[in-house]
Amino acid sequence: MLNPFDIVIFGGGGDLSIRKLLPAMYRAYQEGNLPEGSRIVPTVRELANKEEFIEKVNQGLQEHLGQGEYNQQDWKTFSQFIEPLAINVTQVDDGWKALKALLESDAPDKSRVFYLSLPPAVYGSCSEVLAQMNLITPTSRVVVEKPIGYCGESAEVINAKVAEYFDEQQIFRIDHYLGKETVQNLMALRFSNVIFENLWDAKTIDNIQISISETVGLETRAGFYDKAGALRDMVQNHLLQLLCLVAMESPNKLSANSIRTEKLKVLESLRPLVNEDVDENVIRGQYVPGELDGTVVPGYLEELGSASHTETFVAIRANIDNWRWSGVPFYLRTGKRMKKRCAEIIVEYKPVSHNVYQKNVGNIEPNRLIIRLQPEESIQLTLMSKRLDSLDMQLEPVTLNLDLSKDSANTFHSDAYKRLMLDAAANNPALFIHRNEVKQAWAWIDPIIEKWEKEGTPSLYRAGTWGPESADELLAQKGHKWFNVG
Ligand code: BG6
Repeated sequence: MLNPFDIVIFGGGGDLSIRKLLPAMYRAYQEGNLPEGSRIVPTVRELANKEEFIEKVNQGLQEHLGQGEYNQQDWKTFSQFIEPLAINVTQVDDGWKALKALLESDAPDKSRVFYLSLPPAVYGSCSEVLAQMNLITPTSRVVVEKPIGYCGESAEVINAKVAEYFDEQQIFRIDHYLGKETVQNLMALRFSNVIFENLWDAKTIDNIQISISETVGLETRAGFYDKAGALRDMVQNHLLQLLCLVAMESPNKLSANSIRTEKLKVLESLRPLVNEDVDENVIRGQYVPGELDGTVVPGYLEELGSASHTETFVAIRANIDNWRWSGVPFYLRTGKRMKKRCAEIIVEYKPVSHNVYQKNVGNIEPNRLIIRLQPEESIQLTLMSKRLDSLDMQLEPVTLNLDLSKDSANTFHSDAYKRLMLDAAANNPALFIHRNEVKQAWAWIDPIIEKWEKEGTPSLYRAGTWGPESADELLAQKGHKWFNVG
C-alpha cells in the first residue's frame, strides 16, 4: 500500500482534469488505493467558492465514470480529499501562499506530485514558481502532459527549462497509452512466454499494424488541435510509444532505465523519412462531412469555422533498420471521425512455407496476434483449424480469445490515468518517458512536418470511413491490407 501523498493538479478545472484525472483518483479511492491522509489539490484561475467547484467535480464524475461506478456514499468520503485553490500558475499570488501553507502543514518528506495539466508553454514558468516558493522537496515529482512542444527544438527549450528546477528522475512525462492495462500486458506477453518471443522477428512476421481510430471530431479543443494535428497529437507520442514496446529488445530487468534504454534504441533505428520519402510513405487526411452511426456529422472545416490544412488522419509506413526487424513494414494509423473507435496492434505472421492442402479445403490465412486496447481490452490469436462439422478435410480460421475486461475482478477498473498517477505518487517512473525519447521521437517527426509545411494538402475522407483511399493504397503497394475491426 502506498504512503499518503499530496497531488496538486494545476489546471484542475480543465477538461483533462474533470474528465480523466479526478475520475481516476475517485477510482483509486474506491479500490482502496488512495491512502488516508492524502490530499488532492485542483488549482483553478478563479474560485468563487469551494462548494461550487466541488459540485463541478461531482457532476464530472457522474458524467465520466462508467455505469455503476458512482455512488453518493463514496462521493461523500472522496470529496473530503479534495482541497481546491485559486492560483495564477505563473506568478506568486495569495493562492501560492495558501498552497505552501497547506503542503507544509504535513511532514516534509510526504510525497508531492505536481501535475501540470497546462499548456506546455507554461511548464517552465510554473516550475519556476514552485522553486521560488520552495515547494520542491526531494520527494516531489512533476508530471507533464504530451505533446511536449511543437517540434524538437521547442521541446528541448521546455525540457531544459523544467530541468532547471527538477532532476530528470523527478520529471514524469506522461503518455496515458502506457498506462493502459493491455499495453503492459503486451510486455508480459512478450517477455514471459517463450512461444511469442521466439516468433518475434523478420523471419516469421510479415507486417505489423498499429492503429488508433477515433469517432470523435474536434470536440472543444479547436485552439489546441488545429495547431497540433494528428501527427503531433497522436503519432509523436502514443503511436511511437506503442511501436517501441512492440519492437524493443527484452530489457535486462523491469527498471525504468532498462526499459527506456531499449525503447530509445528503437526510436534511433527508425528509418528517417525525409523529402520524397514523406510523399511515398506518409498519408495525411482531413475529414469532410459524412455519416457516423446513422447521424450526419460536419466536416473538420465546418467544425473549425475556418480554412485549414491541419491533418485529422495520418498513416505511415515505417521501417526499423536493425537486425530483428529488417524488411518488416510497421504501419501506423490514427484518425478522428473514423468508422469505429478502436485501438489495436496487429502482428501478422508470414504464410506457411509450403501449403500441403489443396485449394478446395479453404485458404490458409496468416496467423494474427491482435492486441486490442479499446473499446474492450483483449488479446486474440487467429489460427487455422480443421472444421469439425465435415468428414472432409476443411480448414477454417479460429480465434483464441483472452478477454481481459471479463477476467479482471469486479472492483478493478482499468484506468490508465489512475495507474500512472499512482505510479508518480509511488515514485515509479518505468511507464513514463525520458527526455531522450521525446527528443528522438521529434527528430523522426520533424522532417515530416517540414515537408508538409512546404507543400501539399491533406487527402480528404468522409467522416465515418476508414480514412482516405490513399491509405489503403499505401498498404496495397506491398500486398497488405488494413485489418479493420467489425
Ligand atoms: C489524447 C489526444 O492524448 O488521446 C486526443 O490528445 C485523443 O486527441 C486521446 O482523443 C485518445 O485517448 P483514448 O485513451 O481515448 O484513446
